[in-house]
Amino acid sequence: MGTIKDFYKTDGLDYKYRRWKKYPTGRFDYRATEKAINDFLKGLNVKNALEVGCGPGTWTPLVRNHTEKLLAVDISDTMIDEARKNLQGLDVDFWNGDIMDYEPEEKFDLIFSIRAFEYFPKQEEFISKAFQMLNPGGKLFIITKTKASYWYGRTKIRKALNKVFPFLFYYEKKEFDNRRIKNIENFHQNRVFTGELKSMFKKNGFESVKVKPVIIRPPLFMRGKSEIPVIPPALEKPVLGLLTPIDRALSHSSVFTLFAESFSISGEKSGAVK
Ligand SMILES: C[S@@+](CC[C@H](N)C(=O)[O-])C[C@H]1O[C@@H](n2cnc3c(N)ncnc32)[C@H](O)[C@@H]1O
Repeated sequence: MGTIKDFYKTDGLDYKYRRWKKYPTGRFDYRATEKAINDFLKGLNVKNALEVGCGPGTWTPLVRNHTEKLLAVDISDTMIDEARKNLQGLDVDFWNGDIMDYEPEEKFDLIFSIRAFEYFPKQEEFISKAFQMLNPGGKLFIITKTKASYWYGRTKIRKALNKVFPFLFYYEKKEFDNRRIKNIENFHQNRVFTGELKSMFKKNGFESVKVKPVIIRPPLFMRGKSEIPVIPPALEKPVLGLLTPIDRALSHSSVFTLFAESFSISGEKSGAVK
């Protein structure tokens, strides 16, 4: 089995642009994720924060605005190089390695991790480690992909459609470099149910645990990587325009994670000194 570190050797190159900027769907996802992060960070000002799985530094500037000091950790050296390039002039420390091997010299007031948790082989150990790494009153914020949602299970529909109507996949085949995504199935990925993750947080000592949906849009775009191709590129922008206010309105209630590609979860370590 390949490792995520190997995968991002090449897939990490230019990741920020390809995932979040290149296509209208990516830009929609970017805005929804940015909003979820900003909603969480609103009014929060801490001394010392840790970002786990910073990747190319997509969200690092957002959290940097709310902390005096920030350490960004990533297992991929390619991603760390990309982050250094993208974050020139921003005062951030980096550590390249597996978060489970990281031995902190000091504790943090905020641990922040966006779209990385699903790749951790030891998820519960990570939650427990995060709790240990936090100061009393500290917060853990994670965004991860949903398991129970209409996004899940589309691989089978895609396979059947590809057999009968292969032309539907024209744009996807044309626009994505499939050599890059070939080994995507070869590394560990584990999506968890919202309830499961909530229990993990509580079991490991977190309080005030809250779940919210993040990206709410149907996975139906012809040019969307791994989606069920129905909406042609010419209609991408108007359809996404209609979906934007829906995403904004629904993203406040955890019920709508059923329609979401990803969700956020936050928890707090009690203020009492342990
Ligand atoms: C899908 S990317 C997301 C990057 C960025 N947070 C974003 O949203 O654009 C996941 C990142 O998590 C990192 N990662 C995965 N497992 C890790 C681990 N055990 N320790 C540190 N980083 C890890 C990967 O190398 C990758 O950069």
